[in-house]
Amino acid sequence: MYTLEELQAIANKCYRCPLSKTRTNVVFGEGNSKASIMFVGEGPGYYEDKIGRPFVGRAGQLLDKMLKAIGLKREDVYIANIVKCRPPKNRNPLEGESQVCIEFLRWQVKIIEPDIIVCLGAVAARNIIDKNFRITKSRGTWYKKGNFNMIATYHPAALLRDESKKKDAWEDFKSIRDTYKEIEKYMEG
Ligand code: URA
Repeated sequence: MYTLEELQAIANKCYRCPLSKTRTNVVFGEGNSKASIMFVGEGPGYYEDKIGRPFVGRAGQLLDKMLKAIGLKREDVYIANIVKCRPPKNRNPLEGESQVCIEFLRWQVKIIEPDIIVCLGAVAARNIIDKNFRITKSRGTWYKKGNFNMIATYHPAALLRDESKKKDAWEDFKSIRDTYKEIEKYMEG
């Protein structure tokens, strides 16, 4: 078993896919290593690549706001991505890239052991919940796999592009809040 720090050191020296050639920084993920809730995006964008931290651009600021609205801070949660290096021009990660890189996410999940995994957008949902996942159709639905409660909602970048999706995303976040509270209560009791 690795620690998160050991795993990050390995990721920082990863050259297993072509994204390693164009990255500025590996964006490993960050947050509470004992979080009961984990948010997973697609891959780093321009600012994330520059800084080496997940969700720090406009989409990240919106994610922070949404977390706050359900009573969570970044320090309460763990945030990661399917791929740890920025795909050129923010294109979707290719299947080969995701397949190689998701190995890191699997380790992160093993170490953190979250109760809830929130997929932000279709790329995360297809890699984590179901390869044919349709975000418009199946967002907001809970899936149980082993010990994990999983749900997908719109990617915050999609909400920035299309404001009309915000209402549904808010419903999803309320459902996430309720499940999170239930689990916290169960853990305490
Ligand atoms: N979009 C993502 O999917 N992940 C990030 O870290 C930033 C933007």
